[in-house]
Amino acid sequence: MPMAVGLPSPGPPSPNRRGGADEMSDVQERLDALRKAIQYHAYRYYVLDDPVISDAEYDALWRELVALEQQHPELITADSPTQRVPGALAERFAKVRHPAPILSLANAFSPAELQAWRERFLKLLPPERQEGICYVVEPKIDGLSVVLTYEEGRFVLGATRGDGEEGEDVTANLRTVKSVPLRIPLPRDPRHEPEPTGVSAPGRLVVRGEIYTPIADFQRFNARQARAGERTYANPRNFAAGSLRQLDARITAGRPLKLWVYQIVVLEGAGPAAPRTQWEALAYLRALGFPVETRIRRFAEWDAVMAYCEEWGRTGRHQLPYEADGLVIKLDDFDLQERLGYVGKDPRWAVAYKYATEEAVTRLLEIKVNVGRTGTLNPYAVLEPVQVGGVTVTNATLHNEDYIREKDIRVGDLVVVKRAGEVIPQVLRPLPELRTGSEQIWQMPTRCPACGGQAVRPANEAAWRCVNSACPAQLVRAVEHFVSREAMDIAGFGIRQAELFVERGFIKDLADIYYLKPEDLLALEGFGEKKVANLMAAIQASKTRPPARLLTALGIQGVGQVVAENLMAHYDSLAALAAAPLEELQAIEGIGPVLAQNIVDWFAQEANRRVLEKLEAAGVTTARSAPRAAPRPAAQPLAGLTFVITGTLPTLSREQARALIQAHGGKVTDAVSKNTSYLVAGEAAGSKLAKAQQLGVPVISEEELRRMVEAA
Ligand code: IVH
Repeated sequence: MPMAVGLPSPGPPSPNRRGGADEMSDVQERLDALRKAIQYHAYRYYVLDDPVISDAEYDALWRELVALEQQHPELITADSPTQRVPGALAERFAKVRHPAPILSLANAFSPAELQAWRERFLKLLPPERQEGICYVVEPKIDGLSVVLTYEEGRFVLGATRGDGEEGEDVTANLRTVKSVPLRIPLPRDPRHEPEPTGVSAPGRLVVRGEIYTPIADFQRFNARQARAGERTYANPRNFAAGSLRQLDARITAGRPLKLWVYQIVVLEGAGPAAPRTQWEALAYLRALGFPVETRIRRFAEWDAVMAYCEEWGRTGRHQLPYEADGLVIKLDDFDLQERLGYVGKDPRWAVAYKYATEEAVTRLLEIKVNVGRTGTLNPYAVLEPVQVGGVTVTNATLHNEDYIREKDIRVGDLVVVKRAGEVIPQVLRPLPELRTGSEQIWQMPTRCPACGGQAVRPANEAAWRCVNSACPAQLVRAVEHFVSREAMDIAGFGIRQAELFVERGFIKDLADIYYLKPEDLLALEGFGEKKVANLMAAIQASKTRPPARLLTALGIQGVGQVVAENLMAHYDSLAALAAAPLEELQAIEGIGPVLAQNIVDWFAQEANRRVLEKLEAAGVTTARSAPRAAPRPAAQPLAGLTFVITGTLPTLSREQARALIQAHGGKVTDAVSKNTSYLVAGEAAGSKLAKAQQLGVPVISEEELRRMVEAA
């Protein structure tokens, strides 16, 4: 409807204005009639989407009202339809206390959870109340929850939900939303409404509803913004929330916002019209002129509720013009609702049945890098929070530098995020068509974000690494590895202790494990005499582990138990290994060029050399005292098994994985066939993965491969 939305500035009083009380009451009458007519026709247009007059007729009414108000500015009232948009902007939103807690809802993600909800509340009801229960099922609108207060029929306060106790006063913004009635009840036009509703304004009414943006309006808005090089929004929900919370309500006025109301929070002075069930409440709100969804059903049978939920998931939810993330199932009877009450912030009498969306669109705000145990720099996306599969996602993996470059993912992009089961969410792809031009191409840092040390990207690897073993971010992980069973095997020492000791500054490098002071530990909460004594003894005992264990414990990339044993079969001490030139290492069977380079790089680091010296000074065994033993053959747990490796593994290169498998008796081939025992798959596994799935070949991760090896 082409309708003037802006605030018409009141002109100077007309010099021709006639005086006289009669005349003024004529004007007042005409103003009233115009306002009522406009209110009614705006309702037909914005709420019912069913106008009964033409746009031209509506415009004529609007123009007449504006002109009359310009002539009689003293007769302008706050609830006149011309007064939706304020002239000035707010400095901030005032806090408002809600008259009653604005509750949230418990979720059910499956028919079984829905069933469990029903069983929970049934148990709380006496047998006679367990029969004849009616349910109201409503779409769960994915918007912004608002609370609207009407006094004597006038809209006086509109607030966001906030924390449920206190929200923000967004009255001025809500007034600009055309489907928010400024007056109730809606004046009906008898020519178009054969049956009068007969409801009158209650003394006080507080209702709850959802502000949302229809999907089509959202897409139009975003496309326009993108064309103009302006900011675009991730999804209709964020858009609606951002639009409503504008300090300048004139901006809100230009945004396609709508309202659905679904709940009475407070009702006073309604007399016999006061509803006693949710179904009646919805009809009552509709009669007052509020926008109330019509895709709401009432059921007297539980089985019918379940069937409806199932069918809605397949069909109904995809046909809505706005985004809904599920259904809300409410007990119809207010008396039952009251009896059941709440648990925490959730009513027992209602539940949200959610359909898991595995993918969602949101904005990538920033790319950060975290540091893994072996020093890998792992880029991840910081996202505008978004619901994916019923969980709020704020971070998602971006895998590595190549992934970001190949997919052309930029900071500021709208991106598709996926979450499947328990797997960490990942960024699937950007939406370049919605770029505004302000998005930034990202560069992988060449220094470690935690310690500032040099990062390197080894040849044939997708990951950058920080090669400083004293790097604080790696340190906790490194300590955890150092003390683990396959390394120095220090009982009573795990990730929790590692975190605590690093955080307290007791451990600044791996060698500090051997310089922990009992008196420092005794001062920590939960560290009694006995515990500390045991821990100190375990640390002491670890000093005599064979040097191959120590080498494993150092956590050099690619140097696990097998490789460490292999190396220490060739060198008497870590000092000798540290002095070994690259070519010599490469000549050792099972040590490829990449691994050899890793070892050389590690020992070349000043910080790592210092750690070795400190370890030695603490009395940790770094050299073999006994004459060189024949190399112990690795156990052969993979004998008879054939493996194929695909994709990028988290820590091992292909070559290292191959060496690991072969060292334990397994065979590695290139192509997946029915003779393949296992496919070892990493990130970005392609056709081999599909082939394995097709042939029913078990697919395992690097972690699982390691476990198979360690099981020996
Ligand atoms: S009833 C005590 N009905 O969903 C009653 N809520 O996840 C609680 N929502 O915060 C609310 N559509 O913002 C109700 N038809 C509907 C709804 C609805 C959307 C929102 C509401 C609430 C959130 C809970």
